Amino acid sequence: MYLKVESLEKRYGHLVPVSGLSFSLGQGELLGLLGPSGCGKTTTLRMISGLIHATSGKIIVGGHDVTHLPTYRRNMGVMFQSYALFPHMTIAENVAFGLEMRKLSKADIAQRVSSALSMVRLPALGNRKPLQLSGGQQQRVALARALVIEPDILLLDEPLSNLDAKLRDEMRNEIREIQQRLRMTTVFVTHDQTEAMAICDRIVVMNRGKLEQIGTPHEIYERPSTPMVADFVGRINRIRCRWRDDGAIAFGHTAIGAVSTGPAGSEVLVMVRPHRIELRSAGAKAGRAEGENTIPGTVRQVTYIGDSLQYAVESEGEKIMVEQATTSAGDTYKPGDAVTLNWRARDTLTFAAEADV
Ligand SMILES: Nc1ncnc2c1ncn2[C@@H]1O[C@H](COP(=O)(O)OP(=O)(O)OP(=O)(O)O)[C@@H](O)[C@H]1O
Ligand SMILES: [Mg+2]
Repeated sequence: MYLKVESLEKRYGHLVPVSGLSFSLGQGELLGLLGPSGCGKTTTLRMISGLIHATSGKIIVGGHDVTHLPTYRRNMGVMFQSYALFPHMTIAENVAFGLEMRKLSKADIAQRVSSALSMVRLPALGNRKPLQLSGGQQQRVALARALVIEPDILLLDEPLSNLDAKLRDEMRNEIREIQQRLRMTTVFVTHDQTEAMAICDRIVVMNRGKLEQIGTPHEIYERPSTPMVADFVGRINRIRCRWRDDGAIAFGHTAIGAVSTGPAGSEVLVMVRPHRIELRSAGAKAGRAEGENTIPGTVRQVTYIGDSLQYAVESEGEKIMVEQATTSAGDTYKPGDAVTLNWRARDTLTFAAEADV
């Protein structure tokens, strides 16, 4: 492993924004730090960069302990959440700064600055000052400044948060492409789960200063280890039920199957993603697939959002959200329709009820 974080902790008096945090990255890996606002992402990144000191724990790079080294001896390219551009320098001078420090030739610097600025789609703005740019443009300058030095380790704190949706998608693919081409070991902070899923090799989900789960996007999404992770990485239904003695789950009068089982009679938190549930007319004679759960319900509300239709369906006194992609041919339902909700047992996530905080 190239970058290792071991039992990292930061304290400010009684406040402990980060504690017991351990994870590691292989060389060239892109690791996402994902979590809600205030969970300690920026604090973690700042400790890795050396901008703030860890209260305890270690940071190891390539086998060397850098915990007590100053930032400039860590060869890390850092982009802060508040861009921290130098206001008195032009955009080109801002981007060139790290290269000047590394004493590259003038021609080399000019060439690299110009390619970094076109990469972030700002080729014509090199002579302006930061305050003459919009927030999103400043953010892209900060990104160019971190990338241009081709660091061993790239630390990006919400690098795309101020861009419109289309530019954000383009830039995230661009970051991924450069990061892979140069094999830069990268920590990418975001609170946007789609962004994290789209480009990260693995994701650390943080909650209240601690690691909640680490895994590939697929593992985090399909096999979340806690209800918090399940909830944070996409919309999901939460239903409180009880285990039956045959290993199924009692949902009102209906038995539903899951992958796991639990102690009979104890409470269980069932979670199912809205788009994994399919609606059928109550009378439809659709063949029931092996391992499929089927429960009856009544449509209460329908919301059209273009790509999909969102249904609120009442079943056994619970409100269950269902999302169906809109197709030109697909069946649609209206409030009052009697339907069945169908989903696979393997899409039924279960958690001990105590884990639901
Ligand atoms: N210098 C400081 N002194 C005291 N508390 C701090 C300091 N810096 C951060 N905190 C607190 O530590 C917690 C974690 O902050 P941090 O900036 O790491 O969160 P974050 O996950 O990056 O959030 P966001 O998504 O909003 O950027 C917050 O409660 C914050 O108020
Ligand atoms: Mg932050």
